[in-house]
Amino acid sequence: MANAFSALVLTVSDRASAGERVDTAGPAVRDMLLEKGFVCGEPVILPDEKALIEEALIRAADTDAVNLVLTVGGTGLSPRDVSPEAASVVCERLVPGIPEAMRFHSLGITPRAMLSRSIAGIRKQTLIINLPGSKKAAVENLEAVIDTLEHGLEILLDLKDEHGRTHAQGA
Ligand code: MTE
Repeated sequence: MANAFSALVLTVSDRASAGERVDTAGPAVRDMLLEKGFVCGEPVILPDEKALIEEALIRAADTDAVNLVLTVGGTGLSPRDVSPEAASVVCERLVPGIPEAMRFHSLGITPRAMLSRSIAGIRKQTLIINLPGSKKAAVENLEAVIDTLEHGLEILLDLKDEHGRTHAQGA
């Protein structure tokens, strides 16, 4: 499948950002996106700093008009975990069904899935989704929703209506 939507992976981790550990989750998420046809560069690594995450999300949406932004990490209960807070500041509308689907799927794998506070939402024409930070958790959460994202982005970008008809055909 070649959807050609653009995507950005933001790995949020103090230790990866300081070079104290290698980011494996971000590249695994990018590989999944590439396989589905998204156009996606190398993951950008940020520390768990709310202002920096907000800035990166705003730039991706307002300046670069990226279709899909996936943050990876910082969704748990540690005081340093602020990815959902950063996303909730910048998003204009929430898409609660996405984290609901991720946690529903993930709870069938591990009860610890309830510890991810991830959210999803929209800023302008950009869909923003938080994923948890381990490679296993990030991949398992994304696999729950990835096949539905293309349809959501088509509606967000006004390319198709909710029935899947292109506006040119359906009107
Ligand atoms: N979801 C899935 N599918 N698989 C997992 O292993 N780990 C959980 C949860 N979600 C996990 C998961 C754990 S242990 C935590 S602490 C939270 O995600 C938050 O992870 P984060 O702080 O790295 O964002």
